[in-house]
Amino acid sequence: MNIQDLPIQIIEQIGKVQKIAFPRQGHTSIVAILDTPDKKYVIKKTENDLYNEWLSEEYKMLQYLYHTGLPVPQAYSYHVENKSRWLLMDYIDGISLREFLSKEPNLKDKEKAIFNFGLCLKKIHECSSHIELLKK
Ligand SMILES: Nc1ncnc2c1ncn2[C@@H]1O[C@H](COP(=O)(O)OP(=O)(O)O)[C@@H](O)[C@H]1O
Ligand SMILES: [Mg+2]
Repeated sequence: MNIQDLPIQIIEQIGKVQKIAFPRQGHTSIVAILDTPDKKYVIKKTENDLYNEWLSEEYKMLQYLYHTGLPVPQAYSYHVENKSRWLLMDYIDGISLREFLSKEPNLKDKEKAIFNFGLCLKKIHECSSHIELLKK
């Protein structure tokens, strides 16, 4: 993925992309961080039927979860282009829990981070009944 590949509809939405960077990649999509004069975005691209379907579900879930007040990126658009799908969302600055735990020397702070991670997961799971309804 490079700046020239980005769908024109997305460029029109976010403005000029000054820089594109690639974080450590996940497993089902290409993830890029886009710098614009306003702010940073994340764009995810998938290119096969199964992962396209998952990306579409991710878009719906992010839209739903955003309104629950959970700390998820705001999803702006889902774009279809031939066999590819693109999902545009906010960039959220941060590090993984694993990285935090390996660097943080204070035990109380580590415990706090694990507790908060668990709490967040619990809240997501509590949304699952609504999510099932959304799928219907
Ligand atoms: N909205 C975001 N803001 C910041 N970093 C992100 C965002 N989305 C993904 N990332 C980074 O990209 C990595 C891979 O993303 P992920 O959503 O897990 O991709 P995949 O669905 O391909 O597994 C994440 O572990 C994270 O570091
Ligand atoms: Mg992943």
